[in-house]
Amino acid sequence: MEWWKKTIVYELYPKSFQDTTGSGTGDIAGIRRRLDYLQSLGIGAVWLTPVCRSPMVDNGYDIADYREIDPSYGTMEEFEALLKEAKERGIGIVMDLVFNHTSDQNPWFVESRKSKDNPYSSWYIWRDAKEDGSAPTNWRGIFGGSAWTWCEERGQYYLHTFASAQPDLNWANPDVRKALYDAANFWIEKGAAGFRVDAITYIRKPDVFKDGIPDGEDGMVSVHDMTANTPGILEYLHEWKREVSEGKNIFTVAEANGVSADELKYWVGRDGAFDMLFEFSHVNLEFKGVETWCKPNPWTISDLKAALRASQEATRTNGWYPIFFENHDKPRSNSHYFEAGADMRKASKVIGTILYTLRGTPFVYQGQELGYANMALDSVDDYDDISTHGQYAFALEEGLSKEEAMACVHAYSRDNARTPMQWDDTENAGFTTGVPWLPVHSQYRTENAAYESADPDSILNWYRRLAQLRKQEPVLTEGDFEEVFADSDDLFAYRRVTESEEILVIVNFKNHAVSYDESVLDGMKILLSSEPGTAPGIMRALEAAIWKKEK
Ligand code: GLC
Repeated sequence: MEWWKKTIVYELYPKSFQDTTGSGTGDIAGIRRRLDYLQSLGIGAVWLTPVCRSPMVDNGYDIADYREIDPSYGTMEEFEALLKEAKERGIGIVMDLVFNHTSDQNPWFVESRKSKDNPYSSWYIWRDAKEDGSAPTNWRGIFGGSAWTWCEERGQYYLHTFASAQPDLNWANPDVRKALYDAANFWIEKGAAGFRVDAITYIRKPDVFKDGIPDGEDGMVSVHDMTANTPGILEYLHEWKREVSEGKNIFTVAEANGVSADELKYWVGRDGAFDMLFEFSHVNLEFKGVETWCKPNPWTISDLKAALRASQEATRTNGWYPIFFENHDKPRSNSHYFEAGADMRKASKVIGTILYTLRGTPFVYQGQELGYANMALDSVDDYDDISTHGQYAFALEEGLSKEEAMACVHAYSRDNARTPMQWDDTENAGFTTGVPWLPVHSQYRTENAAYESADPDSILNWYRRLAQLRKQEPVLTEGDFEEVFADSDDLFAYRRVTESEEILVIVNFKNHAVSYDESVLDGMKILLSSEPGTAPGIMRALEAAIWKKEK
């Protein structure tokens, strides 16, 4: 079995991890300083969100140079030292490839915007204005506002799926594709252990661009609905596989919203373009398709279970599932999946238990292992995240009051997941000696790595114990997934099964005790429980328990 199927991946947000210079933002030297901590989590790979040179309009997802480290993070020498030191600890470094778009400060775009006939003129998506001078189509960018920006210099509009500072590359141009593959191979030669591939579903544009039926008061339609997963996209992706990843000892995981289960086999696995694919149905339960924060739909634990069941089923014989509940774009999971008033420590352990025991490779997101919750800031101006500002403005346009719009921000802002790491109980939680770029949580005196390391009952030690369990019990890696109590809206329970072993995992999502048919425990012994004194047949509020049977 490939190494990355047997490991745990840690998603690290460098800007918020550890500052060593007093600048208020994290750096590579800070990651090197904390390698012992990373090793103590039992992980085998660290996915770094983008560290390439960037004006940071979208915190690195706007790349100005694919082969340079951003000076705020450090130097290439420091990056190489990180690769080496991490490798000595058995940890691979996974890079984030942002290939749908670049920064508007990327020299390719700076050249492209100059005229219609320069060598880079067709590297981006340029179109003439409509007759009245307005944008070529009524598409709304993912961060809000038109997906088109007028460029006076060239006398045309350019397309940007995200912010106007993130112009979309023209993948139909073979020179563009080659430049991107070369950039990926540059990092493989440096020793990268794999890639997370950003926003890949948008790379192929339709042949004809046309207006869509408006889905909001602004008269626009989401660009996602008009361009995501355009037929023909797989030709590019298979070319990417041949040119970059095939036959190498690395893994690839693509961020791919909206790939249906029947198409999955072309995307992942033996005949697919990637090893794994992040799909979002279980973290976007309230959003069908486009993520519009002010229009969440109601959902239940049964919906969550159905989404997880579908991905387990879809990757049963082909491909491999990247298990995740948090990332740098999503709210904290302990603030998302539970009833009001839930005990955060217990809720965090419930999520950790599922993360480390489903079939697939767990991706734990920075701070999740310490139990961070969402953080509400008073004013929208206090938020850094570019999409927060777009979503807030959209909510007001849709007729919500300022208070209602702020409630959406509090629930869904991407800054919820981007607050600085809390290392100890000193000022700014040991993250920086300067002014942190986002505030640290107010409860950092007890929710920090040093404090939790010393507390045997902490969330951190629960995560460490689960990581050990994955190593000790190969059935957690190899075993099939078989759901139990599928009809329950309180408990999520499943077996992991091989010919010789069986593990049963049961978690209770609710703030009250739930009883169950204890015959499922026949011949089983308790391996691990989040609360002392687990009793057969009853799950206490927010309890997690792992049982085992030798066959
Ligand atoms: C992905 C990233 C997100 C970024 C966007 C544009 O969704 O995860 O953080 O803003 O792509 O690159």
